Amino acid sequence: MITPPESLVQLLKPWADFYSHSKLAATIVQFLHIGGLVLAGGLAIASDRATFRALRLPVAAREGPLLELASVHRWVITGLTVIVVSGLAFLTADIETFFGSWIFWTKMALVVLLLINGLMMTRAEETLRRDAGEDSRGWRSLRRTAKWSLALWFTIAFAGVALANFS
Ligand code: HEM
Repeated sequence: MITPPESLVQLLKPWADFYSHSKLAATIVQFLHIGGLVLAGGLAIASDRATFRALRLPVAAREGPLLELASVHRWVITGLTVIVVSGLAFLTADIETFFGSWIFWTKMALVVLLLINGLMMTRAEETLRRDAGEDSRGWRSLRRTAKWSLALWFTIAFAGVALANFS
């Protein structure tokens, strides 16, 4: 089990002590983490579903759904930012538990994959803004990134709950 540097543990001790004695702090941090998940994950999954439905439409009818998808990203990024900040609050409130947790690092790797997938999704949209023809490779890339988004959001949420229960 990898242990965090003692200097880091000492640096975080005031926050860890405060957090462990404050139900209000724990409630606020947990709410922000779950609330960010509801906002970002909820909109992302609804958009993935809209993408699959749009891909069944004739190409000429896909412009509206594509514009809608482009307008959702900043909400998802806002929710993800809240998730990351509250996640860091969780992590630093009990660094000795989470620093050595393979579930935690697996979850962080999945979060990085989610961000890369989001970037590839915006790249697919850029391709479609240049070429939205029937054979554009943008449509295949959009379907693939929507599938990965669905899988990653649920897998990360599962890893989060596992982290809370097995740590
Ligand atoms: C898409 C991104 C993420 C999702 C969907 C997610 C989801 C969750 C969920 C559902 C829980 C369980 C909460 C509970 O039982 O109260 C959780 C716990 C946790 N998350 Fe995340 N999380 C994400 C990103 C992060 C990040 C980026 C960090 C750290 C920087 C993080 C750190 C933690 C920690 C430490 C816990 C355990 C909290 C505890 O048991 O006290 N999460 N996460």
